[in-house]
Order: sequence, then structure tokens, then C-alpha cells
Amino acid sequence: MRLVVLGAGAGGGLPQWNCGCVQCSAARAGLIPPMTQSTLAVSVDGRDWVLLNASPDLRQQLAACPSLHPASLRGSPVKAVVLTNGDVDHVAGLLTLREKTGFTLYATETTQRILSDNSVFGVLDPTLVERRTIVLNRPFSPLAGLTITPYAVPGKIPLYLEGEMPELDMMGEQTIGLHLQSGGRDAHYIPGCATLPDWLVERLTLADVVLFDGTIWRDDEMPRSGTGSKTGARMGHVAMSGPDGSLTRLSRLQGRRIYTHVNNTNSALMPESPARAAIAAAGWEIAGDGMEVVL
Ligand code: MLT
Ligand code: MN
Ligand code: ZN
Repeated sequence: MRLVVLGAGAGGGLPQWNCGCVQCSAARAGLIPPMTQSTLAVSVDGRDWVLLNASPDLRQQLAACPSLHPASLRGSPVKAVVLTNGDVDHVAGLLTLREKTGFTLYATETTQRILSDNSVFGVLDPTLVERRTIVLNRPFSPLAGLTITPYAVPGKIPLYLEGEMPELDMMGEQTIGLHLQSGGRDAHYIPGCATLPDWLVERLTLADVVLFDGTIWRDDEMPRSGTGSKTGARMGHVAMSGPDGSLTRLSRLQGRRIYTHVNNTNSALMPESPARAAIAAAGWEIAGDGMEVVL
């Protein structure tokens, strides 16, 4: 199984168009690598690929990855897209895939409904793009030799559908993790997760690779840095640090552990930061655009 991180950033990317925070400024100055928004590409044979989420930067991401270039006059190695939620940073890239090449679009019924309720996604020609509904805990196979089991993780509905008081760590079809299995190896892809209950910690412990929500370092980093008023909890993202944070909760993972969906406010992006030192000491890596994991 080959995993290629097409985009390691959270919504907004790095630098974010309207942000002058330490990390965004460092990226503009060429001091740290920029990051496009959250998408992972997966292949078993190196020829056919499935995208896990479709970020608004997908056009640029496909251009940057030779394995994903067309092999013929028209067509694409991208055979399928699987969505983990309906957030803008995970669905807007579907609009890039509109030029009359078929693929299969997998999402839960809840996320499929978000797409069908938004008529702009009708640009995906229904005679070419098959929308398949996936069911929690029921494995499916988007490529020969690859099995994916979707499962609910704590999360909220997309920002643009929030009412007055959204439930922040709801379990259901709105936010899912994906368990990838191929040739006796496995990986979990969880770009968004609000809390880490015991059952989820258990589920991840023995995996060969875990790609996990690295949105924020501190729950209050946006209010503290003046970049926004929301905490991580309010955004549906568990922080890396703190007693209930992912570093502590996932300290017993056996396999490779990689943070992805990293927000530009996260100080762990700075090579000399205490946050980076802490995650490195705990055996975590931070994904970057183009990072490849072979297992
Ligand atoms: C998130 O991960 O919290 C969302 O991508 C936020 C957004 O929609 O911008
Ligand atoms: Mn996001
Ligand atoms: Zn920023």
C-alpha cells in the first residue's frame, strides 16, 4: 500500500490567504514549507489511485504528483474518492474533477445528502460519476486489493450547516475515520476527531500507521494568538497537547504515527518550537505535502 499526502494542511492551508500569524509569515518567507489542504492519495499497484477527501487545492495537488497524471489522451489514475466529512476543505475539490472522466464517489448517506442538496455538485456528470453510499463498519473495496472500513469518530456537522448550538462530539455518519487494509498491513486515516474515547485509542493501538488529526497544538491557540475566537473543541478537533490531548491519549500506539490536517496556527509547524520538540519526543511525525508512506 502506498499513501501519498497530497495536502497536509487544515482548512485554509499554509499560508492562509488572510493570516499573518507566525507560521503563515514563516511560510511566506520561505522558512517553512507551505501546505495545501487536507487530501491523501492511496494506491496498491501504483497505477490506480483513490483520493481520501478532495481539497480545494486538488488541481495543484494532482499537478504536483506525477503518479496522478493522465496516462492517455483523456482519463486519470484517480478511480475513486472517499469523503470523511462534508467540510469545505474535503469536498470543494470535487468541483475540480468535473471534466467528463468517470470515478466512484464514496461517502456516508449523510455526506452524500450534503452533496445532493448542493446543486453545484451536479457538475459531476451522473452518467460518469457514480455516487456510492457507504455504511458505517461495513468494509468496501474502492480498488482491487484495498479494503476500507469506515467508522464513526466524535465530530460535528460542517461549519456551514451549524445551527445555534451544534453538538460538538457527536457519533454518527457526519465525521468518520477510515481503516485501510491491504496485503496484511493497515493504516487509519482520521483527519478530524473531536475527542479520543478509550474504544478509539484501543482501535488504533496496533495499527501499522495512524494518520491523525493534527489541527491544533493547544485547545485555545486561536484565541491566545488573536487569530480567532474558537477553541479546538468548538471546531471539532482534539488538541495535540493537554491531559486529554492526542499526545497523551495515543502514547501507546505501536506503529508509525503521523499528524495531518495541521492548521496554520499550530506552533508545532515551527522546527524550533517546544511543541515540535514534544511531538518528536513522543515519536510523532508531522506530514508535509508530498510525504509518502509505503507499507
Ligand atoms: C475544519 O476542519 O474544522 C473545517 O475544515 C473548518 C472549515 O470548514 O473551514
Ligand atoms: Mn478541515
Ligand atoms: Zn496563519
